[in-house]
Amino acid sequence: MRGWVAGAVMMVLPIAGHAGSAMEPGTRIALPEAAQSGGMSVTQALRERRSVRSYGPEPLSLQEIAQLLWAAQGISEPAQGFRTAPSAGATFPLEVDLLVTGIPELRDGVYRYRPEGHRLELRVPGDRRGPLQDAAHGQSSIGQAPVVMVISGVIPRTARRYGARAERYVHMEAGHAGQNVYLQGTALGIGTVVIGAFRDDRVAAALNLDRSEEPLYILPLGRLR
Ligand SMILES: Cc1cc2nc3c(=O)[nH]c(=O)nc-3n(C[C@H](O)[C@H](O)[C@H](O)COP(=O)(O)O)c2cc1C
Repeated sequence: MRGWVAGAVMMVLPIAGHAGSAMEPGTRIALPEAAQSGGMSVTQALRERRSVRSYGPEPLSLQEIAQLLWAAQGISEPAQGFRTAPSAGATFPLEVDLLVTGIPELRDGVYRYRPEGHRLELRVPGDRRGPLQDAAHGQSSIGQAPVVMVISGVIPRTARRYGARAERYVHMEAGHAGQNVYLQGTALGIGTVVIGAFRDDRVAAALNLDRSEEPLYILPLGRLR
């Protein structure tokens, strides 16, 4: 592991009544269930989707965050663990981290999304948007967004099955997840842009990623103005 390693998990906290500032690294947060139906049509979301790089000042709600994470990598078929985005051989090489600020139920910090159980796990306390923006050549959409998603790929997970083709497969999967977030965000009135221009080593340092985790996309998320 690079740098700090998540401590032992103590318990899964319910959302209501929890004081975010008391959370320690390793704390798990149960997310509200994501809506599984309704909302804008896919056709309309496809028509309205645009890359958005400037956001309204209001924070996102935990319900909205839960929906966006589910769109990225949520489990939509619990019997087999299949997810909202397709995965080569169901090897599921993607990891999703979320930089969160200003959400009453959560301490500011970097959280890992755990699709099994639809939970967040606090990895790095504190606001890491500054170092992440620096790592992305100063792109101001990152520092301006109340929530920033980072999608990373673990190529060996897919390489065990597909060998040298794994790298391309994992990169394709990040595209699927990114487009899901775009479309779900459009339906919720939340804007984003997929950012691919960054220095991998500096993103990894900002998020304390494991050596096996290759950052692929940064998605700032905020309300449409
Ligand atoms: C692989 C990839 C990397 C991208 N990297 C960046 C980026 O670093 N910064 C940025 O502002 N937009 C980035 N974009 C978004 C494109 O600029 C955007 O999709 C394009 O201008 C078309 O606009 P639209 O998404 O609204 O259709 C990236 C898009 C892709 C597919």
